[in-house]
Amino acid sequence: MLIAQVTDSHIKAKGRLAYRKVDTAANLERCFHHLINLKTPPDVVLMTGDLADFGRVEEYEILRELIALLDMPVYVIPGNHDEREIFREAFKDHQYLPRTGDLRYVIEDYPLRMIGLDTTIPGRPEGEMCSNRLAWLDEQLKAKPDLPTLIFMHHPPVTTGIKHMDVQNCKNGDALGRLLKRHPQVFQILCGHVHRPIHTQWHGVTVSIAPSSSNYVALDLDDDSSAEFYLEPLTVQLHEWRDNSGLITHLSFIGDFSGPYPFYDEHGKLID
Ligand SMILES: [Fe+2]
Repeated sequence: MLIAQVTDSHIKAKGRLAYRKVDTAANLERCFHHLINLKTPPDVVLMTGDLADFGRVEEYEILRELIALLDMPVYVIPGNHDEREIFREAFKDHQYLPRTGDLRYVIEDYPLRMIGLDTTIPGRPEGEMCSNRLAWLDEQLKAKPDLPTLIFMHHPPVTTGIKHMDVQNCKNGDALGRLLKRHPQVFQILCGHVHRPIHTQWHGVTVSIAPSSSNYVALDLDDDSSAEFYLEPLTVQLHEWRDNSGLITHLSFIGDFSGPYPFYDEHGKLID
């Protein structure tokens, strides 16, 4: 089972550039064509929040046109740039999304159980796993303790060292960590929000953050890091679930590159 994680697409209304610089719709379209044309296309796409830039109706209209390029199932959760009710309306044909309240759900259709969380706080950049959310998650995990389970959520429950992003991570993340100690079937959490590929170990769980489909938060670990971004080469993360042994994550570069070139010559000898 191959999962593509696409995150932080920050789609703008037609003709508008994110931060007056980035054509996020064109970048997402390139990403989707890249996925479609992979030798092994993904079985499922998880979109982990900040799908629209200001949560506007017209942004989701463009997003939906782009998602229509894909013929595999797509699951969406919101980030802090999304507007929950406009998001819900835009994806009202996505039957797994609840009609009211948080946009959280369990996907039971695959060998790997996947739980999408809504960490957003309306009007706020940071996220939260409040007691209601934790209680709901606890119930879901108690119901199927023997199934390997992956959680995906927008805000990481960890700090990354990029200080201006860490102040808007998932508050109460350690309470989530303590809860997961009781549910060892959860082996990994996929996040977005930080616009960089980052991995860490936390409370016995691997937390991985995927790069944005459009721009990279500057890799600046100083205490006075400022909120800036780079247009580094675009990538997308592919997570393969194989033989019940955890996820194997590949970073796939989007674009046309020179190659492939052989390592061995026509006689099977390593080229010197
Ligand atoms: Fe974002």
